[in-house]
Amino acid sequence: MNRISVDIIKLGGSIITDKSSYCKIRRENLSEICKQLENLSNPYIIVHGAGSFGHIIAEKHSIQDGFEDRNQLDGIVKIRQDMTSLTQEVVSCLVENNVKAIGFQTSALAFIEGAEVLYFLNPIKKSLSLGICPVLSGDVLFTENDGFTIHSGDSIIDHFVRDFNVNQVIFLTDVDGLFEKDDNEETGKLVRKLTYNEFKDFKVEELQSDVIDVTGSMKGKVDEISTLLKDVEKVVILNGLFPERLGLVLKNEDVICTTIFGENSTQR
Ligand code: IPE
Repeated sequence: MNRISVDIIKLGGSIITDKSSYCKIRRENLSEICKQLENLSNPYIIVHGAGSFGHIIAEKHSIQDGFEDRNQLDGIVKIRQDMTSLTQEVVSCLVENNVKAIGFQTSALAFIEGAEVLYFLNPIKKSLSLGICPVLSGDVLFTENDGFTIHSGDSIIDHFVRDFNVNQVIFLTDVDGLFEKDDNEETGKLVRKLTYNEFKDFKVEELQSDVIDVTGSMKGKVDEISTLLKDVEKVVILNGLFPERLGLVLKNEDVICTTIFGENSTQR
């Protein structure tokens, strides 16, 4: 199959769930986000995070450390159940907003062998070519060596930019974008646009968070974005707690967010 051109939209766990409260969904926000996705002309993939449907149990059972004892298996079973319901909530909300969407279980499409994540992507490619939006989530993947590990939504995207022709990746987070670290000021400054070279030297302001997250921080995201920029036209980080900003970005309008242009982009 040819490489399909798509956008990827990551719904961070912090904007579709209340990360501090077990399995609590931010239904109103999710619904406002889904409204922005009605009638888009370009094909897109939705990847959603886990928020309080994944991180709390993952931490409790040390899932990120791989197999250590059988008690962890209860954690894996629970996370899978909870993530199934979260994906179902996202899909239902999309369908209510006239988006043809289908949920795919990431852990049924991928397996880790050594350092390699092996994906079976044909069902996703076919759904896209038929005009159906695939919805995936961060998940617990089985691995050849350690039994299992957490595979974040960001890691899925990291993989997909090599298999699809990705125009833009839009990350919906709970902050307005990237904040530049400034030693002389108390709070960092939001950066609106960065070229690939500017981004390489960028020192991110780490915003404080007291919620449990087993897959990392904004600094971790910045490292992953550096890899993405080799393959995509641009990466946008925006505040998903203001869903109308997503709608404006999708219309290429100027809005509060950070846009980072890819290594081969001619835009600025
Ligand atoms: C985490 O996925 C997956 C699990 C804990 C099962 P993400 O790392 O993408 O989730 P968020 O966006 O941080 O909540």
